[in-house]
Amino acid sequence: MLCLGLNGGLDKVYENRFQIPNTFMHDGAAVLVRDGQVIAAVEEERLNRIKHSNKLPISAAQYCLSAAGVQLSEIDRVAFYATEAYSNAMLENMLVSQPDASIPLDAKLLVQKLLAQEFGTELDASRISFVSHHQAHAVSAFAMSGFEQSLIFAVDGSGDFLSGLMAIGSGTEIKQLATFPENNSLGQFYLETIRYLGYGLFDEYKVMGLAPYGDPVPYRELFEQFYELSANGEYRVHLDRIGPTLLRSIQVRQKGMPFTQQHKDVSASLQEALERIVFHILRHYREATGMTRLCLAGGVAHNCSMNGKLLYSGLFEDIFVQPASHDAGCALGAALIASNELGRPAPRARLQEVYWGPDLASDHAVEEELKAWAGHLEFERTEEVADRAAEWMAGGAVIGWVQG
Ligand SMILES: [Fe+2]
Repeated sequence: MLCLGLNGGLDKVYENRFQIPNTFMHDGAAVLVRDGQVIAAVEEERLNRIKHSNKLPISAAQYCLSAAGVQLSEIDRVAFYATEAYSNAMLENMLVSQPDASIPLDAKLLVQKLLAQEFGTELDASRISFVSHHQAHAVSAFAMSGFEQSLIFAVDGSGDFLSGLMAIGSGTEIKQLATFPENNSLGQFYLETIRYLGYGLFDEYKVMGLAPYGDPVPYRELFEQFYELSANGEYRVHLDRIGPTLLRSIQVRQKGMPFTQQHKDVSASLQEALERIVFHILRHYREATGMTRLCLAGGVAHNCSMNGKLLYSGLFEDIFVQPASHDAGCALGAALIASNELGRPAPRARLQEVYWGPDLASDHAVEEELKAWAGHLEFERTEEVADRAAEWMAGGAVIGWVQG
């Protein structure tokens, strides 16, 4: 039983149909699952060289099929990482900018058509499915956690008109407890603030890294105007207050400008606010459900400072974070949801490794690739790779390391 999960946009790499911000679609990926086991997975950006690619992940799908030695016609189910309603809404959105576009305003038909163009096989519509974005996040974490039961928190910027899901995972079942609307998005809360620190979408981790250099106290009260915590783990974020208030209160940093202590302090307050809200939500659900374990996914779950505090707080006995918590992980979740529906759930075992993408091939292939860049870089072969890397690092160099 083969299921292919896809995450990304509904146009191809050389097309530009969607004049909508890539807040909605990014981190394209494909994941191939056989009988509930991942056999190949890769993010499209690694292959088309566009960071956070928001295109249909054709190259990633091609890689997955060739890694498994199968054709598209042999795939039992192709699962897309968002609901059909949301995907159709994305297409209707496109009409605003391109009223003459001659494509079906039917996401299933479009996926079918695009795959047929690329792979020469027209899949029957019954073999193409759409899954809830946050369910996909949730499953991507829970199915890999090895937990028999746990609380699951999928938390991100937005997707499928929502910004989060709270659920309980039990065996192969996911029971939804609550959803979080887009206007209460914790991902947007972070993003809206970092705009005034010279950053934008996908830069959130840099501000998380800046936060420990600051003190949350000076702007704590100011940030308390941006959110409210109430009974039953409920909260409210006031996204509309952030910009006007920060404009009045801080020296806005433009990209490339030096950091002042104020920028570091604002980062610290932002990080503290996020952690306070997340602890508030999770404390409630920990108590209300009695669940002692937690799974996290969704872009906000890449905030490892927050995750570390959750882990060391002892609120949960064990926490599993999906390594691909960003939307690429939804391709995994979509494939696993489809596989489960077809009677092949993922085995309940803890994820051991994520090396599911293409490797570097032989030393010879690496050398050929490097030779193609002659004139731009020097290279040498050494038996003392670790020693040389250590020397460079000791000398202040930043190194990249690729292996396998
Ligand atoms: Fe997401």
